[in-house]
Amino acid sequence: MNNNTRPADMKRISTPELAEAFISEQVAQVRAQVGDKKVLLALSGGVDSSVVAALLIKAIGKQLVCVHVNHGLMRKGESEQVIEVFKNQLNANLIYIDATDRFLDLLAGVDEPERKRKIIGGEFIKVFDEEARKLEGISFLAQGTIYPDILESDGVKAHHNVGGLPEDMDFELVEPVKLLFKDEVRVVGRALGLPVSMVERQPFPGPGLGVRCLGAITRDRLAALRESDAILREEFSKAGLAEQVWQYFTVVPDFRSTGVRDGKRAFDWPVIIRAVNTVDAMTATVPEIPWPVLQTITSRVLAEVPGVCRVLYDLTPKPVGTIEWE
Ligand code: XMP
Repeated sequence: MNNNTRPADMKRISTPELAEAFISEQVAQVRAQVGDKKVLLALSGGVDSSVVAALLIKAIGKQLVCVHVNHGLMRKGESEQVIEVFKNQLNANLIYIDATDRFLDLLAGVDEPERKRKIIGGEFIKVFDEEARKLEGISFLAQGTIYPDILESDGVKAHHNVGGLPEDMDFELVEPVKLLFKDEVRVVGRALGLPVSMVERQPFPGPGLGVRCLGAITRDRLAALRESDAILREEFSKAGLAEQVWQYFTVVPDFRSTGVRDGKRAFDWPVIIRAVNTVDAMTATVPEIPWPVLQTITSRVLAEVPGVCRVLYDLTPKPVGTIEWE
């Protein structure tokens, strides 16, 4: 299990048949590795951890203990989807922790981007660690490490992803998709029956909405961010843009501008739409979004999201602007 190099003759998993063969092989391997012991997994709801969860449920059922930590910075409906798919549909042994208040209290007043990231990452590890210590008889830790994580970092699950785990946790690792590329993980996820919306999810930073609610996070702006992001995603899906645009989201800055609502002056937040196409996230271009789609999103955000009086579209390519705003 220590082999971290993809064999030169390993076929690219591009079809359901190849995915099925991979799944059978991994199910057998995991059963051989784990025996009747228990395995712990931090299940974020991202593609990699979701596919690992589904694979392990198939292999060892309730011997897998999934922990989903809601840090309060998830997109609308994400934690609910994790519970629906894994607990209700796949009958997983899932522990759900709503740590929203813990994270938002710690983040209150913190406006420096890297400090925000550190707090979110550090607190995630703490919450997960506390939960893990309450559980008994865990021998293994499963991780959604994929091949690019091994190639790009030192084999640790994406260096800047929330999901890094306590270093003193003395578990043997179970990493069934560590030799797969992202597109292969998605094919395997589909073969395991995970919903398309989960398997084809666009990239989402570990610190979540925390890096899009600019400056010091407040609950009102976070709510505006979550609602406007949900509207954007819904309208992009309706317009068939979800498959064409690599990453798209909204940002809420920490300044206000003047508006007029119901004949009265308002002083409210702007919502910025960010949409990019890229191959490797190192450079990115801004796609031309049909005007009617932008208009629909604008009308809906202004009508449905409290505290917002302006909608902007960010035209900046990377470089110079990064994809995220902080
Ligand atoms: P930037 O903003 O650097 O983003 O152009 C490139 C890609 O990385 C994602 N990103 C992150 N992912 N933790 C993550 O897991 C982070 O702190 C983080 N910051 C940026 C970003 O969404 C984009 O896909």
